[in-house]
Amino acid sequence: MRDSAAAPANGARETTIDVALGDRSYPIVIGEDLLGSAAERIAASLPAARCAVVSDTTVAELHLSPLKKSLSDAKLYLGEVVVQPGEASKSFPVLADVSEQLLELGVERGDCVVAFGGGVVGDLAGFAASILRRGVRLVQIPTTLLAQVDSSVGGKTGIDTRQGKNLIGTFYQPSLVLADTKVLDTLSERDFRAGYAEVVKYGLLGDADFFAWLDRDWQDVFADRGDARRRAIETSCRAKAAVVAKDEREESGTRALLNLGHTFGHALETFAGYSDRLLHGEAIAIGMRLAFTYSVADGLCPADDALRVEQHFKAVGLPTQIADIPGETPTPQELLRLMSQDKKVKGGKLALVLVRGIGAAFVEPDIEPESLSAFLEKECQRR
Ligand SMILES: NC(=O)c1ccc[n+]([C@@H]2O[C@H](COP(=O)([O-])OP(=O)(O)OC[C@H]3O[C@@H](n4cnc5c(N)ncnc54)[C@H](O)[C@@H]3O)[C@@H](O)[C@H]2O)c1
Repeated sequence: MRDSAAAPANGARETTIDVALGDRSYPIVIGEDLLGSAAERIAASLPAARCAVVSDTTVAELHLSPLKKSLSDAKLYLGEVVVQPGEASKSFPVLADVSEQLLELGVERGDCVVAFGGGVVGDLAGFAASILRRGVRLVQIPTTLLAQVDSSVGGKTGIDTRQGKNLIGTFYQPSLVLADTKVLDTLSERDFRAGYAEVVKYGLLGDADFFAWLDRDWQDVFADRGDARRRAIETSCRAKAAVVAKDEREESGTRALLNLGHTFGHALETFAGYSDRLLHGEAIAIGMRLAFTYSVADGLCPADDALRVEQHFKAVGLPTQIADIPGETPTPQELLRLMSQDKKVKGGKLALVLVRGIGAAFVEPDIEPESLSAFLEKECQRR
């Protein structure tokens, strides 16, 4: 994995992290004000590719202009397809509509789809790119913290169905990721916080020092003081790139570690109807706290570590309890049923990412349904 920091012409520092996947390797560029030079950066990775941008209405209104200008000036702009913001856009009807609009814009095999938005746009546009004309190139320009540290890297694309989240999708690596940290200035505090949960995840699953730093300096990350925010994004991207390089298609178990908190979290999100009631990152925060508490109950993890995690999430304002979900909350039976829909179920056996402590996650491939059921019974009553 190449990892280099360089000062571009405007003096701002930027970092390039390579995701090492042989002939499908690609750079993640992290820096400020990358949108204005997007055309040159895309042309360097994909010479002569014309670009169709997929975005949502919020991001398009706030940030499309400099990107569109850069691509238009270079005569690489095919047009934009704009969807409604929110998880509901990760659906079959919206996928069909986006794909047809991309064809109408004239996207050809040698062109590329630019996913310009948060994880919803990234997953949706990435999926569309992977099936359009049997696959056109993809550039990710993530605009939320969650997308910059997680969803834009690693090539998972997909949509949701009634049965659960991301059950339909592809592995489809982008050719380039441009993470412009400046666009995060317009992100709502709630969305920033939800993305921060995925930043914490990298500390919890394999980097205790990173967690300790976040626990101490998280306010600098939120306030963008010094280089704290960029450090958080870079460390997260480096961690994700390393995992993806080792286990691109989640076959050896390494990549599965990135699902810490996700089996619980996805079940809670499905229950809440993928709505504003519970954002993805918020569900994952509750899920990670549950994974720690479950590990303590199983005698695997020191209780102090679980307490530190819970206290950290509470300090930053993230939910930690099932009861923190506004409105109706699920019964243990409902949760168990939703967890059983998870992609990590193999031969009827439910796997969970558990922990031996902060920074020490592992996959437990055979969770006993009785012990999980008893655990959920307790947690659903916890206030
Ligand atoms: N593919 C993967 O590996 C992977 C990993 C983690 C999460 N995900 C997926 O990511 C999705 C969640 O992503 P998300 O949290 O980015 O949600 P999102 O895409 O819904 O974005 C959150 C909100 O922020 C707005 N927004 C985006 N950028 C903005 C900006 N710069 N300024 C102001 N507003 C902005 C959006 O319009 C939206 O309303 C989920 O669907 C989840 O399943 C995928």
